[in-house]
Amino acid sequence: MLNKILVAFGLKPSQYTVHPFGSGLINYTLKVSGNGQDYILQRINVNVFKAPDQIASNLNLLQAYFKNTYPDYNFVAPLPSATGDYLVKTDKGEYYRLFPFVKGSTTTDFISNKKEAFEAAKQFGKFTCMLKDFDASALNYTLTDFHNLKLRFDHFKTACQNAQESRLQEAAKEVKEVYNHYNILQNYNQLIGNNQIPVRVIHHDTKINNILFDDKHNGLCVIDLDTVMPGYFFSDVGDMMRTYLSPVTEEEKDFSKIQIREDIFDAICKGYIAEMGKILTETEKQNFIFSGKLMMYMQAIRFLTDYLNNDIYYGIKYPDHNLIRAKNQFDLLNKYINCEKKFERILAKAQDGLIVAS
Ligand SMILES: Nc1ncnc2c1ncn2[C@@H]1O[C@H](COP(=O)(O)OP(=O)(O)O)[C@@H](O)[C@H]1O
Ligand SMILES: [Mg+2]
Repeated sequence: MLNKILVAFGLKPSQYTVHPFGSGLINYTLKVSGNGQDYILQRINVNVFKAPDQIASNLNLLQAYFKNTYPDYNFVAPLPSATGDYLVKTDKGEYYRLFPFVKGSTTTDFISNKKEAFEAAKQFGKFTCMLKDFDASALNYTLTDFHNLKLRFDHFKTACQNAQESRLQEAAKEVKEVYNHYNILQNYNQLIGNNQIPVRVIHHDTKINNILFDDKHNGLCVIDLDTVMPGYFFSDVGDMMRTYLSPVTEEEKDFSKIQIREDIFDAICKGYIAEMGKILTETEKQNFIFSGKLMMYMQAIRFLTDYLNNDIYYGIKYPDHNLIRAKNQFDLLNKYINCEKKFERILAKAQDGLIVAS
C-alpha cells in the first residue's frame, strides 16, 4: 500500500525507507528518506478533518500568497503528486500528502525554557502578521465552530440536561465552577457579538510541537496547518497560555504540580508582540490576558461536557478521566486568574519594549 502511495508521488519505493515519525496526535506521520532527500508523508485523520480537499485548497491559496508576498518564508506546503494533485486517495478512502522535510529541523513536546516559548509565540505571531492583508474569507473553515465558546457552553447546558444523575452529582462542583466564571462567556459574547475584534488568519493549534526549531533553538516556521482558518487572535495567544505556562499538561492528576511560570508568560507576550504588536487593535491588546482565561475555560467546559455525555469524544484511560481533566483546567484557570495583576505589569512592559524598540 505505502509503495503505491510513494509511486503516486513520483518516488521509487526501492530507493526510500519509511518510518513513523514525530509525536503528532491527529494525523499519521511518516518520514521518508532516500536519494539524499527526506520527506514527511502524512495520512490525514478524516475522523477529525472531514473534507481533506478543503485543507488542500486552503494551503494552495496560502502558498500562492506567500510565494508572491514573502518568498523567503518557509511555508511548508504539500508537494504535488505525479499527476499534479496535492492529495493521493487510496482505494480505502484514505488521503495522503507529502511535504518536504525541513532540513535540520527538530521539534520538542514540552517547553523547557523561556527561549522556546518566545520563539514559538514569535512564529505564530509572524504567521498571522504576514497574512494581515490576505483575504481570510477565502479560506475554508476546516473545523467549524472550533473555538466558539458560546456553542461549547450551549453543548454543556444540553449535556447537563441529559446527563446521568450519578455523573451530575460527581461533577456538581465543576458544574458550579462553569457558572462561577460566567463572566468569561459574557465578555466573549460581547467581543464577538459586537464585532469588536478583527477576523484574522489564525493557526488554531499552537502546540509546541507544531513549531520547527533549528539546532540553536531558534524558531524556523510553523507546521501542521490543517486548522489554519479565519479566527481571532485569542485562539493562538490563549492556547499558548493554556499549554505553555504550566510545566504539566491537562493529563496531570496531581494538581499541586500545576503552576504558572511567569517567565514563560513574559516570553509569550514578548514573542507575540514582537510580530503582532504593531497591528493588534486596542481591544485585542486589552484582551490579551483574557485570551488565556477564555481558552482554559473553554477546554474545562469541553472536558466536563464530555464527562457528562459519557465520554463520547475524548479518549479515556480510566473512568473519571474527563472529569479529572476538567478539574485540572479549572485549577489552571484559577491559578492564572490569581496572577492577573502581575500579568498586567509584565504585559505593559512587553508593550513598552516594543515602543522603545521601534
Ligand atoms: N515538514 C516537516 N519537516 C520536519 N518535520 C515535520 C514536518 N511536518 C511534520 N513534522 C514532524 O511530524 C510531527 C507531526 O506532524 P503534524 O503535522 O504536527 O501532525 P499532527 O497533526 O498529527 O500533530 C511534527 O510535530 C514534526 O515533528
Ligand atoms: Mg502537530
